[in-house]
Amino acid sequence: MNASSGNSGDAGSVHRIFYGRRRGRKLRASMSALLEEDLPKLAIDPPGDGETLDPTTLFTHQPREIWLEIGFGAGEHLAWQADVNRDVGIVGGEPFLNGVASLLRHRRNLGVDNIRVYADDVRPLLDHLADGSFSRIFVLFPDPWPKTRHHFRRIVQAETIASFHRLLSPGGELRLATDDMEYLRWMLARVLRQGGFQWLAKGPRDWRERPEDWPATRYEEKAREAGRSPCFLRFVRNGGTGCAGLAGGR
Ligand SMILES: C[S@@+](CC[C@H](N)C(=O)[O-])C[C@H]1O[C@@H](n2cnc3c(N)ncnc32)[C@H](O)[C@@H]1O
Repeated sequence: MNASSGNSGDAGSVHRIFYGRRRGRKLRASMSALLEEDLPKLAIDPPGDGETLDPTTLFTHQPREIWLEIGFGAGEHLAWQADVNRDVGIVGGEPFLNGVASLLRHRRNLGVDNIRVYADDVRPLLDHLADGSFSRIFVLFPDPWPKTRHHFRRIVQAETIASFHRLLSPGGELRLATDDMEYLRWMLARVLRQGGFQWLAKGPRDWRERPEDWPATRYEEKAREAGRSPCFLRFVRNGGTGCAGLAGGR
């Protein structure tokens, strides 16, 4: 794609190119073995054209709720949530293979069976998921792409926020985190413009301090070491429709 076709505004599906890394340093043999042995049992296949995926069908037992974490990185937050909430099914989306292997290692160490993995760019999958599929969606420290000409690469766009609204059940929660103040304003503007979400913060402590049921991620720790202050946003999806029709989803 011509870089000039990106702009500082919101990007539609025409910009759905994944700009991150799919592989990092060479995997140790034990991590490669995890990918070979465990990933096929947990992986979500890309749905076909026109197919709708009901995520309850991904789990062997009926989960109390289903949650989605997008860009789980090394998977420490997702694994912690899966361990503490064993009656919940958690779908994780992450194209970075080293991160997927790391999540699989956490999963084995904890002995949990309530995780399913989409090892790719999650945006095309969102279009195929049934309305109200999730009770929680997490997008923690997504890549900020700080240069204005790269803003179209951000995962938080009007389009994705509209998808999150459609995919959350009424009363469901959207959790976003960032250590980039400009991205914070960007996120807030898009969620509030979407409508149909209530921001749970009553004062600055509510977004400056991480809630107890939200463990630190690797990226958060790096941000703190570098002297940056992370922000934690929690929104509840109202019963209304917001502007979800703009998502173009089913
Ligand atoms: C800055 S890292 C943060 C990782 C983790 N959430 C944390 O807090 O440590 C952003 C992650 O989002 C993933 N990511 C970026 N675009 C994505 C997409 N379209 N679908 C799924 N994951 C994505 C990247 O591969 C990367 O692992």
